[in-house]
Amino acid sequence: MKITVLIENSVGVLIPTGLCGEHGLSLWIEHEGHKILFDTGQTGKVVENALRLGINLKEANAIILSHGHYDHTGGLKAVLEFIEKPIDIYAHKDVFSLHYASPVDRYIGIPFRKEELEGLGANFRWIKEPTEIFSNIWVSGEVPRKTTFEKIDERLYIKEDEKKLPDLILDDISLFIKTDKGLIIILGCAHSGVVNIIEHAKKVTKENKIYAIIGGTHLSSAAGLQLEETLVYLARLNLGLIATNHCTGLNVAARFKEIFGNKFRFGATGEVITI
Ligand SMILES: [Fe+2]
Ligand SMILES: [Fe+2]
Repeated sequence: MKITVLIENSVGVLIPTGLCGEHGLSLWIEHEGHKILFDTGQTGKVVENALRLGINLKEANAIILSHGHYDHTGGLKAVLEFIEKPIDIYAHKDVFSLHYASPVDRYIGIPFRKEELEGLGANFRWIKEPTEIFSNIWVSGEVPRKTTFEKIDERLYIKEDEKKLPDLILDDISLFIKTDKGLIIILGCAHSGVVNIIEHAKKVTKENKIYAIIGGTHLSSAAGLQLEETLVYLARLNLGLIATNHCTGLNVAARFKEIFGNKFRFGATGEVITI
């Protein structure tokens, strides 16, 4: 399996020149002949980054949207315009909810209408329950929130009929890939909580060994207790690889490095992870 970080907040140092970083996430996953685009970054710069990295987005078999936030979906229009043909997009239907953030009431949802994307070839396939989209590759569906210490950011809300409701981000989905080494878990922003997602992955795939965790953990803004409980949980997993980025934050990445040593990699733009 090969995972290339097409875009995230920073650019790696030993990476070919000309790549662009931006607040957001997009990963290119190649596994057993399947090519999957997981999220699309914020602005569409992902298209140029892919070209520079020698990746042909037209070869994608599917696109997955981890949730509706603009930093994961904002590049979707540019991607569809580039690939110029119909493609399946797996997402939870709440990706089109009106996601907002206080205190400045900023709209942080997907910046396109569904119909516009469908006109460009998007074939939305709504995922609510866990679904094996290709052999041994699962989309999580809604993640049950079971831990007491993992909290949704209270600044987030959705607008429905001009009413403000707490945003549970039910559209937060992850990818679980079953391999001989154990499970590879790919996170977008992990708004459901990293531990909730891992426990769900074990149940869905009936695989208890977690080999790798890759992507955004949303721990940069987590309260102290959530961070500490999560670190204790992860340390017990005996992971072979933890390659986090995006909303993990540099402080938390430093903690990971301290705990996991050479099992930790910072998944900056341009990094290629081969498993
Ligand atoms: Fe997010
Ligand atoms: Fe994000």
